[in-house]
Amino acid sequence: MIIHHLQEKNSILNKFIAEIRDVKIQKDSLRFRRNIERIGEVLGYELSKQLTYSVKDIETPLGNSQEQLISNSIVLCSILRAGLPLHQGLLNYFDDVENAFISAYRHHSNNDAEFEIVVEYFAAPSLNKKTLLLADPMLATGQSLVAVIEAIKKFGTPKEIHILTVIGSKEGIEFIKENFPKNTHLWIAAIDDELNSKGYIVPGLGDAGDLAFGAK
Ligand code: URA
Repeated sequence: MIIHHLQEKNSILNKFIAEIRDVKIQKDSLRFRRNIERIGEVLGYELSKQLTYSVKDIETPLGNSQEQLISNSIVLCSILRAGLPLHQGLLNYFDDVENAFISAYRHHSNNDAEFEIVVEYFAAPSLNKKTLLLADPMLATGQSLVAVIEAIKKFGTPKEIHILTVIGSKEGIEFIKENFPKNTHLWIAAIDDELNSKGYIVPGLGDAGDLAFGAK
């Protein structure tokens, strides 16, 4: 797996990350969603540099030009529900791609520390030989992403996979490295050191789905 860690000194990405983490700012759910979307735009822009392009003739009002257009066949897949604002950010740039959605949630049987991932809903086009963008804002244990990659097998085998994540834990990154194909890229804004006993990222930001969609 090729890891692209995008947070670096003197980048506007730091402001977006600071705002989604900050308890004083993140409670404004409109701003929270918009910041995740803005991070999706930055991730999408960086990822666009790895895609393949072909030259196309373009007619302008005053003459002719030749411009580069993406030639990959892209499917953008997001994990519900926290993936939705990230999906929108990516869609702002990759506006004519095919879309897929999958639900994945944690089912706790006995205690907070133990859970299994339940995948119930999946709508996707064929993924065969396509470029799959997989948007999941929080890469905590990595179990959801691994459950998703298992579930999508029946839709075909993508040519390459790009995972797009806002905050990830070191443990989660190691887990997906072991369980994803080698031709996978991970595009990640921020990497945090730890998970707590409930599998939440520390310092992280809390529950991204609740913050985006208003559970108080
Ligand atoms: N999902 C979240 O929203 N936050 C975490 O820290 C982990 C998983």
